[in-house]
Amino acid sequence: MEPLQLRNGAVATFAALCWAMVSCVHGVTFLEQFTPFSKDGYHVQVAPDGQEAKIVLDQYAASGFGSNYQYLFGNITMMIKLVPGDSAGTVTAYYLSSAQPNHDELDFEFLGNVSGQPYSLQTNVYANGIGRREQRISLWFDPTTDYHSYGVLWNRKQIIFTVDNKPIRLFKNNEDVGIAYPNSKPMGLYASLWNGDSWATQNGWVKTNWTHAPFIVSFRDFSTLDGCVVTNDINPCTQVTPTHWWEASAYQTIDHNQAEQLLWVKNNYMIYDYCTDTSRFPSPPVECSRNVPVL
Ligand SMILES: *[C@@H]1O[C@H](CO)[C@@H](O)[C@H](O)[C@H]1NC(C)=O
Ligand SMILES: *[C@@H]1O[C@H](CO)[C@@H](O)[C@H](O)[C@H]1NC(C)=O
Ligand SMILES: *[C@@H]1O[C@H](CO)[C@@H](O)[C@H](O)[C@H]1NC(C)=O
Repeated sequence: MEPLQLRNGAVATFAALCWAMVSCVHGVTFLEQFTPFSKDGYHVQVAPDGQEAKIVLDQYAASGFGSNYQYLFGNITMMIKLVPGDSAGTVTAYYLSSAQPNHDELDFEFLGNVSGQPYSLQTNVYANGIGRREQRISLWFDPTTDYHSYGVLWNRKQIIFTVDNKPIRLFKNNEDVGIAYPNSKPMGLYASLWNGDSWATQNGWVKTNWTHAPFIVSFRDFSTLDGCVVTNDINPCTQVTPTHWWEASAYQTIDHNQAEQLLWVKNNYMIYDYCTDTSRFPSPPVECSRNVPVL
């Protein structure tokens, strides 16, 4: 590419180029999208160019951040690199949540482990205040050495949880059989790192080893929150328009390839599924059979 010449209009030219480029120094910055929970400059650390942020957990404080906007539907993704080394006891949570009461929530919770042992990823869905839909998988890669993407494609018909764009969980709109569905409450996006050693790692047997603190989780690329931003009322976000591309018919069901990937995860990586936990649910919740793809 030709080097940029500085002259009149250079800013506009740069902005246009920037828009078209995959990697760009003037990408969306962390602070344009998020506000840290702590202001001490230590427990949430933002790179000078705004392209990376870290949450730090130590004996003194946990922390996190929340989005500046609220969303209703979209393709909302985060690039995350998890706590390396001995992360046992720590929990990195990344979730969308509406305000209380009767809230909606879509959860990713990463449960740390001792060095060399796999992380677990727990997902959950709350709709109209009702949750208890935990599923837990292990991952097919080490999530601490590189960034990977974790997201949801959320529309009026279904929610697909993805890891590196592979579907790992499907939650369909089953309102026709009386199951609430998140489609009326704007949700903010949150991330936090905290000590969950009473339950997180090997059911609470392995405690956080604070000699390994500080624990650090990293985030980058803040341009992947492609959702409908709710300002005053939700109505504009419930309309089916070309801007709301996630409502297109291609995204209302999963295709054959996605169904195969979902079953691959279920058959090879699933550690826990509320749908098969008969001690909690003697007969599986109604939505369970509907959320499993048929090939
Ligand atoms: C940690 O590693 C152990 C042993 O491989 C495994 O059983 C467990 O599911 C892993 N994850 C957590 C969160 O304990
Ligand atoms: C905590 O980590 C330190 C340093 O690696 C190690 O010496 C100690 O045995 C660990 N404690 C526990 C309870 O595993
Ligand atoms: C959703 O966003 C991610 C991250 O920007 C992107 O890689 C993915 O292709 C998007 N999904 C669809 C269906 O376009």
